[in-house]
Amino acid sequence: MDERFITSHLLPEEDMEEVFLRPTRLQDYIGQQQVRENIEVFIQAARERHQSLDHVLLSGPPGLGKTTLANIIASEMGTNIRKTSGPAIERAGDLAAILTNLEAGEVLFIDEIHRLNRTVEEIMYSAMEDYKIDIVIGKGPSARTLEVDINPFTLVGATTRPGLLSSPLRDRFGINCRLEFYEEKDLMQILQRTAQILKVPITPEGAAKLAACSRGTPRIANRLLKRVADFALVKGDGEITEELAETSLRSLLIDECGLDRMDRLILETIIQKFNGGPVGLDTLAAAISEESDSLTDVYEPYLLKLGFLHKTPRGRVVTERGYRHMGYKPHPSVKSGRLFDE
Ligand code: ADE
Repeated sequence: MDERFITSHLLPEEDMEEVFLRPTRLQDYIGQQQVRENIEVFIQAARERHQSLDHVLLSGPPGLGKTTLANIIASEMGTNIRKTSGPAIERAGDLAAILTNLEAGEVLFIDEIHRLNRTVEEIMYSAMEDYKIDIVIGKGPSARTLEVDINPFTLVGATTRPGLLSSPLRDRFGINCRLEFYEEKDLMQILQRTAQILKVPITPEGAAKLAACSRGTPRIANRLLKRVADFALVKGDGEITEELAETSLRSLLIDECGLDRMDRLILETIIQKFNGGPVGLDTLAAAISEESDSLTDVYEPYLLKLGFLHKTPRGRVVTERGYRHMGYKPHPSVKSGRLFDE
């Protein structure tokens, strides 16, 4: 199989250590209880029927465990996983090569599936529905289409932007799971599990402190744990206590809500340069020298969840709560609610 667009190993944004820390069975997956319970039922039913699992769409902000779940689905189904991403599949022929090489029952994981281009996406429809693809042979008037059977497979698509999926593609996923930000108690359990694997001593209060500053995201929790473990080793006695977590987070410029320098720069810029908003996405992205896509996919979701930011048809506005968090008195128009007239 062509290594340019498919791999059974790592995607570009995965790092080896993250992979090593991931649970491999559903029973070890913490949080997202409803999603986990539902997937357990669907997997058991597919296994009892000796069928491949229906196609699964996993959506939600980055770092919540979409790739982890895809791996777990494959291992619970007792099958292989092949991984690729929407932007890596440039031509219809690339996808045809991937699909015709799949073994029966295998999981095909496509990250950022909302970024598949239109012609590639159209090949996917019949592949998902009937396990058939149309291959065009030749060019011009003598071109012929050949219908080719492929093995039954499970497509697991992951997206941070489900709204960008075309409806024909979205409708072909029989299982649709939306991952939400994790509760602090679940993040605490994930941190304690990771600390045990990495052999880092951590008190329950230390874990609670880190959980509260992890923006509801296991990937952030695990990264914070590693950095704070460095502080514990160098500045303390190796153990992550509440006090050590607090001083380390301060050194890492992470505040009590888990906001980092970039989150605060976003709020600060809207308040200072745009009078609290509304400001359009591209204008804001240019003002902070960041990609618009990172703003919408990476930074905004948690600011929206905290209620610090609000999206209106005319752009982003900082809320009263956002003003207060940043240490400002709210702009008079924020208090009167005028900015929220939509
Ligand atoms: N590591 C990262 N995400 C996890 C999860 N949901 N459960 C357990 N460990 C994890």
